[in-house]
Amino acid sequence: MVVVDAGSLIWKNANVREGELPERRLKAQLILDAYRLSGVDALTPGPADLALGVDFYRQATADLPVLAGNLSCSGQGWPLTRTVEVGGHRIGLIGVVDEVPEGCALTQPAVEAARQGVQELGQVDVVVLLSQSRVATDGQIAEAVDGLDFIVNGHDRQTWKNPRGYDHGSFGLGAGSRGKKVGVLELRLKPGLSGWQDSSAGEELAAQLERMRSRVADVRADLDEAEDDKTRERLDKRAEYYQAEVDRLQAELDLATSSDGAQHNAFSNHLVDLDDGFAGHEALDLLVYQAKDRLSQLDPEQFEAAELAGPWVGTQQCRGCHLEQFEQWQGTDHAKAYATLVEARRHMDSDCFSCHVTGAGKPGGPSSPQQVGVFKDVGCESCHGPGQAHIDQPVAATILGKPGESICKDCHDGDQDGGRFELPAYLPRVLH
Ligand code: HEC
Ligand code: HEC
Ligand code: HEC
Ligand code: HEC
Repeated sequence: MVVVDAGSLIWKNANVREGELPERRLKAQLILDAYRLSGVDALTPGPADLALGVDFYRQATADLPVLAGNLSCSGQGWPLTRTVEVGGHRIGLIGVVDEVPEGCALTQPAVEAARQGVQELGQVDVVVLLSQSRVATDGQIAEAVDGLDFIVNGHDRQTWKNPRGYDHGSFGLGAGSRGKKVGVLELRLKPGLSGWQDSSAGEELAAQLERMRSRVADVRADLDEAEDDKTRERLDKRAEYYQAEVDRLQAELDLATSSDGAQHNAFSNHLVDLDDGFAGHEALDLLVYQAKDRLSQLDPEQFEAAELAGPWVGTQQCRGCHLEQFEQWQGTDHAKAYATLVEARRHMDSDCFSCHVTGAGKPGGPSSPQQVGVFKDVGCESCHGPGQAHIDQPVAATILGKPGESICKDCHDGDQDGGRFELPAYLPRVLH
């Protein structure tokens, strides 16, 4: 197995506030520890990773194989390529970047660096480019440079279940953002063959075909039990439709698996959940446990909590004049959203506090776990908007009276909430 990271993992964007650095650096250290445990073969840093400080990054990765051949920070660079051997095959790795982080300079355009990397690697069995570039730049690299097999993009947060085919037979991969998924690419190299074919495309078709076949069987079973002509006619039509789909999928599958298959090497790509797929790994489990522990023990007092002078006032300010609504709100899960994070020991994790804290991440609202203070939980202003103007002038016109569905979906985003949200079921449970 070869483990690579194309960057933007130890932090997600290039803007870091001074007060947030301790938490972010701690998290970065833990991720890098996880890499040490899994034996990472190459990492390519992006502006987001280096935003934690070039010196910090260098020190934290001193014993790790960082590749970034066309990047120079404070006059120092990193290697461009490296070769690793697995199962008797030589895998060549190249790391290039396309954006200049603060305090750094590009010594060469990404396309040129990629070309040089292929030359530098010489005779290897597979060439993998780790790219901190836009996907569009990856396309240009693929077009201009011969000899690349796979381009792993760490910059654009793209999640590609199916690798994207580029010019010259190379394929682009992306495992998405927020450290939720790990991309697992399986390669089957056949002696003497060149080029690649995506065998997971066949897997997907085979699964569709299986589903369609069982529908045909279901409809036929219903047909056997149908009691009147009208029902029989309706089911006949349906069976005919599904059967046509079965034939179409079978033809597509035959084409995908037969034609080129024998002339090319094959790969299949899968995205594995970091939670489920890795839960069995004891050492990593322990690391995650320790990580949560260390994060939850960060002392908020050690950070300089900037005074918030923004338009957000906190739920207690609304209580006096709207006691009835306050008491109803107190009985909802929104009033314990912060406690839920504390229980999960994630309240000091800035990936988590945004939807569990009032006004978090909004203009003038708390922007880090250290500023939570009176904004704990999903308070009044999470739905009614910032309240300062309404406190200054308490009339209906100064506050949002009827928050719409889009406000709920800010947090009930179909992703972090387990995809459970449905307005007709959820709204009545929060109305005052
Ligand atoms: C600022 C983020 C945010 C907004 C805006 C928001 N919610 Fe929530 N909601 C949450 C969080 C977080 C929880 C989980 C709280 C917990 O269990 O600790 C939750 C829980 C709920 C629950 C309880 C779910 C359950 O089964 O336990 C309901 C119902 C709900 N929200 C409805 C709504 C509706 C309707 C809206 C819009 C009018 C809305 N929410 C707006 C963040 C939000
Ligand atoms: C995009 C907004 C959002 C973010 C970011 C978010 N949550 Fe939540 N969380 C929700 C909502 C909404 C619910 C309520 C879901 C429901 O019950 O329908 C929820 C519920 C929960 C629950 C209650 C159990 C459950 O799964 O429903 C826990 C625990 C939780 N979140 C932990 C976390 C942790 C840990 C993080 C950081 C990794 C996090 N949340 C980040 C929106 C968010
Ligand atoms: C989850 C979102 C949500 C939260 C949190 C929330 N509200 Fe509301 N509130 C609404 C919605 C939606 C309406 C509009 C109901 C309608 O369409 O009539 C509303 C209406 C109101 C009204 C108008 C009168 C009424 O009762 O319909 C007042 C006053 C009010 N909210 C105050 C508060 C206060 C005070 C808090 C905090 C203690 C709060 N709300 C928290 C969603 C929320
Ligand atoms: C000093 C008393 C006072 C405080 C404090 C106060 N309100 Fe109000 N609120 C009012 C009055 C008065 C109205 C107008 C009632 C009316 O017109 O029926 C009102 C109306 C509202 C409405 C209904 C708006 C509409 O369009 O119908 C909402 C929602 C609301 N307040 C939310 C809040 C929230 C959230 C807070 C805390 C940030 C808050 N209020 C703090 C006095 C107050």
